[in-house]
Amino acid sequence: MDEKERATLPATDSGLALNRRNFLRGGAAAGALVAGAAAAKAEGTPDPLITEKQPWATGWGDGVDATPYGLPIRFEGDVIRRNVEWLTADVISSINFTPIHALDGTITPAGCAFERHHSGAIELAKEDYRLMIHGLVDKPLVFTYEDLERFPRVNRTYFLECAANTGMEWAGAQLNGAQFTHGMIHNMEYSGVTLRTLLEEAGVKPEGKWIYVEGADASSNGRSIPIEKALDDCLVAFKANGEALRKEHGYPVRLCVPGWEGNMWVKWLRRVEVTDQAVESREETSKYTDTLADGTSRKWTWVMDAKSVVTSPSPQSPIKHGKGPLVITGLAWSGRGAITAVDVSIDGGKTWTEARLAAPGQKMALTRFYLDIEWDGSEMLLQSRATDETGYVQPTKKQLRDVRGENSVYHNNCIQTWWVKENGEAENVEVS
Ligand code: MTE
Ligand code: CO
Repeated sequence: MDEKERATLPATDSGLALNRRNFLRGGAAAGALVAGAAAAKAEGTPDPLITEKQPWATGWGDGVDATPYGLPIRFEGDVIRRNVEWLTADVISSINFTPIHALDGTITPAGCAFERHHSGAIELAKEDYRLMIHGLVDKPLVFTYEDLERFPRVNRTYFLECAANTGMEWAGAQLNGAQFTHGMIHNMEYSGVTLRTLLEEAGVKPEGKWIYVEGADASSNGRSIPIEKALDDCLVAFKANGEALRKEHGYPVRLCVPGWEGNMWVKWLRRVEVTDQAVESREETSKYTDTLADGTSRKWTWVMDAKSVVTSPSPQSPIKHGKGPLVITGLAWSGRGAITAVDVSIDGGKTWTEARLAAPGQKMALTRFYLDIEWDGSEMLLQSRATDETGYVQPTKKQLRDVRGENSVYHNNCIQTWWVKENGEAENVEVS
């Protein structure tokens, strides 16, 4: 994080927060947090926020027509997507990062959900939208947007993680913030039609073993997907979090390929061809191979393995209230199913405590975890470790490097370490 970004972080302590801290120092129980201001009053320090009439209570607020489509209040202006300029040569074929350090819950608001384009975000109107299904089918079909709306609809919540997420961290701790190390991920509730419904409408021939999917943008982002996955849980989505997809996320229609690499989630979906083999020659942008420690490469790694990260405290979300009650929180996910447990360590992985899942893990969706501790103010090496329903446990960086070496880019799902210092600031580090 550069100085400019640091400067955009909210100011440290409001008077209220200071009072609360004093109150806590007095040995009060964590459950009594809200009584902080009252304690200040008891100590005889009048709090103007309570005793004085404030501007927001003396005039009118905005009328209901002030913002027909609302944005976050200006105080939250730093909760935004950010990119890393040196990462790519041009913003047209680039990526930005979700501010996961500043969000809570599991649903990513569309306005700050990361974007990844190979040839820029295009503007495609619903009226101009066509989806073709052809190849090894009984009946080639072309659907308009309105046609898609007439098929039985489903709602599903899924994470999308770019295969390159955490990719800059292979050789060493590099980017200082959960947004930058783990922010190529978003989690939305999609509404749409299952791809299976549409494929059945066209009738897949027995020789049809793969589908080749492509988008309407110049890159087309063509990908081959095995027919089993296509008929299992893929979704042709046109709404996310209840509203139309944002332009940058594929408006008006995108493909969801739950649990699999983000690059297969074709945006502006325009064509599904049923084939008898993978059509690699056409996959212009699909060079998503994984380098292994022995110098060979692994061709396909579609599934995103279990992974987690502490989102707060973290470099962009330092501890500001001093010692005492501290909420440690983060996100966990797995492309192989539901998260069943998350363990948190404050001593660099020597000892672990099971965190509390905010809700039972859902398949291929983000899970929020919390660990409520009494921080003694000493430094911590903070880590989280996810386990999914297959029993798979998130590996350490060393375990992953033993297999993958240090020259990989994709599929880095290792345990992340934040060094939280006595002053509450945190840094991206590695522990051996
Ligand atoms: N689809 C099209 N048509 N064009 C693209 O450039 N990028 C892919 C995928 N689908 C891409 C695409 C990649 S690499 C990722 S990680 C995801 O879209 C990103 O989706 P998002 O922009 O909604 O975050
Ligand atoms: Co990607």
